Amino acid sequence: MTDQKKHVLPSSLKGLTDEISRRMPDKTRFEHTISVAYECLSIAEYFTHIDKVELCKAALLHDIAKGLSSKEFEELDRKYSIGFTVHDLEAPAVMHAKAGAMIASREFSTSVEVAKAIAEHTTGAPDMSLISKILFIADYVEVTRKWESCKQARRELYLALEKEDSDPMLILDLTIVSIIDKTAAHIESTGRKVHPDSLLCKEFILKNRKSY
Ligand SMILES: [Fe+2]
Ligand SMILES: [Fe+2]
Repeated sequence: MTDQKKHVLPSSLKGLTDEISRRMPDKTRFEHTISVAYECLSIAEYFTHIDKVELCKAALLHDIAKGLSSKEFEELDRKYSIGFTVHDLEAPAVMHAKAGAMIASREFSTSVEVAKAIAEHTTGAPDMSLISKILFIADYVEVTRKWESCKQARRELYLALEKEDSDPMLILDLTIVSIIDKTAAHIESTGRKVHPDSLLCKEFILKNRKSY
């Protein structure tokens, strides 16, 4: 299994990492953030055409808005015209993704692709970029996650990627569908509604991968 520790974050992101650390006083959240960045680099090893700096930027900023109060989300919405949908408001856990994307774009001048990956990291979305897919998966499987479903997903991911003649993009797609199914089952078991973007993400993948 891939060892996260052998990875080093790009040196050009030292300033960004320090800034995230400053803005993220919750130590556990910061450790999760760094672990997501390492996990992204582990998964990226199976792809030749990927910008690792952009990928790590998305990872470092993905939870920048996590833990904000509803008042702070309202303020950000007013400031940046985020435009939360009725579905977002029904799923507050999703709001940090859209707010985080806006903060990344406006306050850290990230690319559209990085901001989009941050916006999609909780729900998934149709037609995700490679950066978006890797971030979505890394956020679920990174090593500080304690739930057995996350550990199992990580084991299965790297077992599949390390098989000879594996198709890494197909494996990412299958992993995303599996994570959405697991998350949806959990959400429904607590009487909440699954966000439509997750359903659209799964539908898009299945439609474009007719052999599943
Ligand atoms: Fe998140
Ligand atoms: Fe996260």
